[in-house]
Amino acid sequence: MYNPFEKLDLNKKNPIILGIESSCDETAAAVIKGRQILSNEIASSASVQALFGGVVPEIASRAHTVAVAEVVDRAIKNAGISYADIDAVAVTYGAGLLGALLVGVSFAKAFAYALNKPLIAVNHIRGHLAASYLSAPELKPPFVTLLASGGHTAVLYAKSEAEFEILGATLDDAAGEAFDKVARVLGLQYPGGPNIEKCALEGKAIVPMPKMLKGGGGYNFSYSGLKTAVINYCHTKEQKNEAYSKADVAASFQKAAIDVLVEKTVEGAKEKGVSVVTAGGGVAANTYLRESLQTACKKNGLRLVLPEKKYCTDNAAMIASEGLVQYRLGNFADMTLTAKASIPLAATLETVQSRRAAEKGAQ
Ligand code: KG4
Ligand code: ZN
Repeated sequence: MYNPFEKLDLNKKNPIILGIESSCDETAAAVIKGRQILSNEIASSASVQALFGGVVPEIASRAHTVAVAEVVDRAIKNAGISYADIDAVAVTYGAGLLGALLVGVSFAKAFAYALNKPLIAVNHIRGHLAASYLSAPELKPPFVTLLASGGHTAVLYAKSEAEFEILGATLDDAAGEAFDKVARVLGLQYPGGPNIEKCALEGKAIVPMPKMLKGGGGYNFSYSGLKTAVINYCHTKEQKNEAYSKADVAASFQKAAIDVLVEKTVEGAKEKGVSVVTAGGGVAANTYLRESLQTACKKNGLRLVLPEKKYCTDNAAMIASEGLVQYRLGNFADMTLTAKASIPLAATLETVQSRRAAEKGAQ
């Protein structure tokens, strides 16, 4: 019978957590011991997806099915541990592509069941936020964090490991989404973000870009105007048969898209009176963002903790890291766990305590 809770010690000093991630086109598995990464494995179908200009969900699901057992096996072997050493299995249950998520969730359930280990359901975005704990093991909230991924853009105030307040978020497109759409207009391959970054290195930020929501926009963002401006600029040039530099457009877009993120994150930190800033999500892998945020933090006497680039884009170490947060809270899933394609940001950041209180109230 499945009962992994008999010998469970929530206060164990450095629990060993296996993390599994399959929300998009990366099949990933990692093992952490406390906040130390023992292994981090990844198999990506991005090169196949690039042929289609974006992620084809069915191709992603099939690739996960082929890769998942081998990737998990590699993560355990490379961590130098045995199955018995694992204290819990953490898996991304949402948000993401439903079929892709189901591969990881089904695998994790079977794995946890077979080994009689506790199962932890991890929200992908919370994983991105927990990535910073892996680069600074002593890091503790409160801090202000910039979340910038393909689906979300927000400045958050982390009150505790489990409690977040949204200071501001995007009103339309996410920053990563804007990078991907602009890349397509410039004829750059999927994934757009890293290719815009590379292209921008050859150019100068001299193409006029619309003003981003500043000041009056509070901590909110809007990326659809910026994206439209780039599309209009390129189309007008093409219609008039005028040459233009893709590299200059890439550099100008990148600067406009990122300067506002940096500015509002630092403003948020100052308003909340915190001394630490962190960031997470694929866009946080951008070198211009990392350098600008570092400069701005330094100027304002703030400490910046950034996950390594490979822990900003999708990976399983961050899922294990959030798994550790949930482990400490005693928040485990059971065998009825299923995948969720979409989870609103507010629900993502809801605390475990408030969720439990709401559940109690509903009884
Ligand atoms: O966090 P992530 O890997 O997946 C989601 O949870 O969405 O973020 C992917 C997004 C994509 O939109 C991608 O273009 C963007 O992050 N991205 C970047 C860079 N690397 C990934 N954007 C700008 N510069 C980068 N170097
Ligand atoms: Zn992600």
